[in-house]
Amino acid sequence: MNKERSLPVLDVRHLKTYFHLENAPYAVVDDVSFELHPGKTLAIVGESGCGKTVTALSILGILPTPPMLYSEGEIIYRGRNLLTISKKEMFKIRGSTIAMIFQDPTNALNPVYTIGNQLLEVVELHLQLYGEEALDRVLQALKEVGISSPEERLSDYPHQLSGGMKQRVMIAMALICEPDILIADEPTTALDVTIQAQVLDLMRNLQQKNGMALLLITHDMGIVAEIADEVAVMYASQIIEKGPVQDIFRHMAHPYTQALFNSRPGHGAIQGKLLAIKGSVPPLNRYPMGCRFHPRCPYMMEKCQNGEVQNFCIENPQHTAKCWLHDGSPESQAKLGINP
Ligand SMILES: Nc1ncnc2c1ncn2[C@@H]1O[C@H](COP(=O)(O)OP(=O)(O)O)[C@@H](O)[C@H]1O
Ligand SMILES: [Mg+2]
Repeated sequence: MNKERSLPVLDVRHLKTYFHLENAPYAVVDDVSFELHPGKTLAIVGESGCGKTVTALSILGILPTPPMLYSEGEIIYRGRNLLTISKKEMFKIRGSTIAMIFQDPTNALNPVYTIGNQLLEVVELHLQLYGEEALDRVLQALKEVGISSPEERLSDYPHQLSGGMKQRVMIAMALICEPDILIADEPTTALDVTIQAQVLDLMRNLQQKNGMALLLITHDMGIVAEIADEVAVMYASQIIEKGPVQDIFRHMAHPYTQALFNSRPGHGAIQGKLLAIKGSVPPLNRYPMGCRFHPRCPYMMEKCQNGEVQNFCIENPQHTAKCWLHDGSPESQAKLGINP
């Protein structure tokens, strides 16, 4: 354990979230565990459809039923399991001490209310501020996200703002209550590169100022390298590699992590497509036996095709990979090109 490591502000243990699809339950999130620490960023990466968004929505308890059946495991926040607290308590937490921003700001903002009205509502509801005080807080929040004449924006409706501006307003709304935790689900995917960088800077600054923990969901390894302290790689509903960002970049232990890295934009690949590796993510009802990645894996061995894969430590005990290549056996060593 790292000496400066604090107690986690959120401790997700063995989270499983089941969906009812085609008359059977499927674990869309399958035994996912991670911690969030104050002032630190955990990035969850993985291709589209691997369960990143469902993981985030499970934390906030905002998945629609159906298709959601139930979540099990533990999500410990301030000593309580968010999976078992009342709806009323969860409502108080959501948007005040745990906030979320979404990939598409259009869905997070209500088209029929002005920006000012929507921000004032959050401040009244969660901070119990009214009148002049509430207005000051809203203007301050808009300034903090880099909106230069906030007074003029108050009477705007969402459709009057550019994509980047809407994103800033959504971030202002998420941060106005100074949350302990911000969950950002692909917050910059819809933005052009310049605004992307501004939004990342903004989140980082606010994080350092407020000691907020950030759970950043992305499929972009470039963003991970820039902003994350820790990385969790998801594939087919499971975390298949996890560790401090420097360890992950020094030694990508899971072949899927390597493939994801090699497929990042600007490296001969189309965004989101693993050109480095054949095939695509299997649908929930077609997960293969054994390692779920084995049909696409260039290192596939016989033992990968059956049974549950163990998690192995890679050098640093905080860095783990769910992959038989790291069991130390002669067969794995040979596959890795290591001479015994
Ligand atoms: N409302 C839904 N109804 C049915 N299946 C869904 C729904 N939402 C997500 N899924 C399925 O759950 C899996 C995980 O989805 P998601 O968490 O959105 O992936 P990611 O965010 O990593 O792209 C996918 O197979 C997806 O098709
Ligand atoms: Mg998603």
